[in-house]
Amino acid sequence: MKRLRLSTIGFGTVGQGFTELLSTRCDLLRQKCDLDIILVSVANAHSGFIYCEDGLDIPMLLQLATTRRPLTAHPGVTRWESPLEGLRATGADILVEATPTNLHDAEPGISHIRAALSQGMHVVTANKGPGALAANELFALARQHGVQLRMEATVMAGTPVISAIREGMAGASVRALRGILNGTTNYILTAMAAGQSYATALADAQARGYAETDPTADVEGHDAVAKTLILAALIFGRSLKPSAVVRQGITTITQEQVQQAIEQDKRIKLVASLRLLAGDKSKEEALEARVEPVALPLRDPLARVDGVMNALTIAADTLSEVTIIGPGAGRVATGQGLLADVIACARAQA
Ligand SMILES: NC(=O)c1ccc[n+]([C@@H]2O[C@H](COP(=O)([O-])OP(=O)(O)OC[C@H]3O[C@@H](n4cnc5c(N)ncnc54)[C@H](OP(=O)(O)O)[C@@H]3O)[C@@H](O)[C@H]2O)c1
Repeated sequence: MKRLRLSTIGFGTVGQGFTELLSTRCDLLRQKCDLDIILVSVANAHSGFIYCEDGLDIPMLLQLATTRRPLTAHPGVTRWESPLEGLRATGADILVEATPTNLHDAEPGISHIRAALSQGMHVVTANKGPGALAANELFALARQHGVQLRMEATVMAGTPVISAIREGMAGASVRALRGILNGTTNYILTAMAAGQSYATALADAQARGYAETDPTADVEGHDAVAKTLILAALIFGRSLKPSAVVRQGITTITQEQVQQAIEQDKRIKLVASLRLLAGDKSKEEALEARVEPVALPLRDPLARVDGVMNALTIAADTLSEVTIIGPGAGRVATGQGLLADVIACARAQA
């Protein structure tokens, strides 16, 4: 049985969901994957970085986090104020990075990822900032150190799209992607299609915990842009700047526009798209990137994806169109994306 030492930086919704899966699936991981995984370190903003060579007690950490007590109350741990210093001093086989997404400079996640890759650790992350802003640099660093960097959970959480395309569709030529990649805006647009105003639908999404108090990143399309940039890098190998993505959010969509679309057997959805544009054969084809509300005919599979669900339609030469539908957020669903990437790293190392 292979023993894996894990470090987790970021112990909020996703970090806790992931470690809970590690703990509740420990027998399954042993029996089906031949893996004995121990969590040797964990970090958050308030407690810093704590380490225990023999492995941390995950139920105890979850209990401390849910009762808002410092993680340092776990017995037998060594603590570093700075996660970077702790990580450098202790190491592990895999870093699971789940700190908040920052689309300005990708910190603090990008520094954690650089440090881990540079010391020969695999990295799996749910954090969109590093992949959106610096995928090429980070994948080059991973290659240089002979380790993997995986980010399935950044796009559609645990619903497999990146691995489905890169591994499941290996050898196919992907020409275009179109997706509903933000659950908050899809929830609001679905509620508007049922007759609610934008303001009521947003307030409802906030009351249910689907939208932040400041919903700008979702409703103005920045979150979907980040996921579009990640897909551009991972699926098309193109490093695009955020400004290269044509972006329009949903804040100006009116109830009248939504009802007019319904009368025409259409549904308005916030669609993220990437499309190779055929052009001069001597040059690299341009990649068009857009995030915008589109009135989709009901025959389009994306038109019927409602509520907080996400979906991605992949156009590939050997498969025509494939659509994957599933959850795009949530504690356990995102933890699942991280867990699948951890198992993939372990298998690649075998
Ligand atoms: N929530 C989802 O459904 C979902 C889905 C897909 C992707 N994601 C992405 O996953 C990441 C985590 O999301 P989340 O919902 O778990 O966020 P969250 O609940 O806000 O948790 C963030 C965690 O990061 C910690 N943190 C913040 N700054 C830090 C620093 N400088 N050093 C160490 N730890 C730091 C926080 O510490 P404290 O606890 O001390 O504040 C907290 O534990 C984000 O990048 C998000 O975009 C989330």
